[in-house]
Amino acid sequence: MAIRQIRILGDPILTKKCKEIREVNDKVVQLVDDMLETMYEADGVGLAAPQVGILKRLVVIDIGDGPLVMINPRILEFSGSQTGDEGCLSYPGKAGVVTRPNYIRAAYTAEDGEEYEIEAEELLARAICHELDHLDGHMYVEKVEGGIHDAEYEEKK
Ligand code: NI
Repeated sequence: MAIRQIRILGDPILTKKCKEIREVNDKVVQLVDDMLETMYEADGVGLAAPQVGILKRLVVIDIGDGPLVMINPRILEFSGSQTGDEGCLSYPGKAGVVTRPNYIRAAYTAEDGEEYEIEAEELLARAICHELDHLDGHMYVEKVEGGIHDAEYEEKK
């Protein structure tokens, strides 16, 4: 595994649309491992492949319940809304208020090459929506209500 360099807001790669992954091969598995290591090292809850410079439809998420790897993820259904602070590893130290669906149902391919569906609410729904936006070249800063502010310092536990 290896830590990959996280691209920062302003890098044009973060505005590009990502391509579907046709086959879950060794290279994809290696990328997944590197992205997880990079996300954990940066204390993030999610990371999308374009954030490490790879224009493929792949995200990794861990809101504290263990890693969720989503290859070619699609949102099938969403409902409700939640409004709250959001941050991004590509815009370190900053946060802003974004409204997202409170519930989503999504389909994706996992590392084993099989198709799965997931239902998510609250923080996990927010994280999935945030990461999927990256795959189409969008960042939360485009959706912020009321401006960007400094993220509150949280002591590591
Ligand atoms: Ni992000």
